[in-house]
Amino acid sequence: MTLDGKRILLGVTGGVAAYKAAELARELQRAGARVQVVMTEAATRFVTPATFQALTGEPVFSDQWDARIDNNMAHIELSRRADAIVVAPATADFMAKAAQGLCDDLLSTLCLARDCPLLMAPAMNRQMWSHPATQRNARQLAADGVTLLGPDSGDQACGETGAGRMLEPLDLIEEIIAFFAPKRLAGHHVLLTAGPTFEPIDPVRGITNLSSGKMGFALARACRHAGAQVTLVAGPVTLATPRGVARIDVQTAQQMHDAVMAELDAAPAAGAPRPDVFIAVAAVADWRIANPSRSKLKKTDEQSVPTLSFTQNPDILAGVARRADAPYCVGFAAESEDLEANGAAKRQRKGVPLLVANIGHATFGRDDNELLLIDADGQRRLPRAGKNALAAALVEEIARRLPVARRPA
Ligand code: CTP
Repeated sequence: MTLDGKRILLGVTGGVAAYKAAELARELQRAGARVQVVMTEAATRFVTPATFQALTGEPVFSDQWDARIDNNMAHIELSRRADAIVVAPATADFMAKAAQGLCDDLLSTLCLARDCPLLMAPAMNRQMWSHPATQRNARQLAADGVTLLGPDSGDQACGETGAGRMLEPLDLIEEIIAFFAPKRLAGHHVLLTAGPTFEPIDPVRGITNLSSGKMGFALARACRHAGAQVTLVAGPVTLATPRGVARIDVQTAQQMHDAVMAELDAAPAAGAPRPDVFIAVAAVADWRIANPSRSKLKKTDEQSVPTLSFTQNPDILAGVARRADAPYCVGFAAESEDLEANGAAKRQRKGVPLLVANIGHATFGRDDNELLLIDADGQRRLPRAGKNALAAALVEEIARRLPVARRPA
């Protein structure tokens, strides 16, 4: 899911975080959105309209009486064209105004005269944020249907540390994409495996594979956007954890197996459901070295070569699918030949309702992919697309197949 075709009206108010709004404008466009910037007069003291105009290619408005707008109804014209208004940064003053329904400048008037969603990213000093008046305003805004994004905790421009900092632009993008995504997995807990595993030979060497983890991480992100609680058990990869996803890092197949089973056995946290969907995307090593050396293997002379002997790793997916309390299981398959027959046989062998086969073998590390879905009713292709778009499509396919009993009321 991206912001393709979405028209975002980006409202910038007068806080020092206004400089980050420039990057946000850029990232919104990168995600596919068209961006129209409206600034308060105070915001223009921090960043000039020319910056936003250059970044978005659109004129920037801050004056309610701007003669560039037909019939002088800027507040109606601009919000009519928007799919959402995002105010970032939203100062304590602007939040107070919006909570009261005041409208004494263009941006506050737009926020009142709208029939599209309003999102706000608070940004202020920690004392201003924790002040009872601001907290009251935040509650009022939420009660009025405004979505508050953040704030974050951390170092502040004033030199203090605490809650009130604006979310970073990339985190805001994630929240905005999630806001628009249909909540097809709301109430579900999805457990995933992703990435390769690493099987040690000795303390400095091991056997792994070319899996980058990109598809599994994209899927974890898409499940989160779709409203699920998400736990991701990841082999050794260098990818950033998708926002809002709980990540457990492992190295070996045995550790991945143990982490998955522990997650399924754990008493569910208060209010959180037990994992009811399991998606095995990891490229798990089928074998591990039977007796890895505790010390580094030495090359004793020019001729000597070590002999490795292997033992089989547990099949995580099949093990989960066999459980009496098995979640809805989705397997992935990389096949080098006869994809359809091998995929169908693998689905039966693993005992899973849905198997997703990668079409073509050179998918490792790429940013796009093409998938074949195999279930009891037959096969269906998801045509080549970026891994994020494919992940969103796959979430939809999984949500449609979830047994009625697993769908929350
Ligand atoms: N899988 C797993 N645990 C293993 C091996 C595989 O959970 N020890 C999962 C993978 O995450 C994937 C599915 O099983 O979802 C199929 O993996 P794949 O490597 O294609 O199949 P294998 O069972 O290893 O069979 P083969 O390599 O012989 O094709």
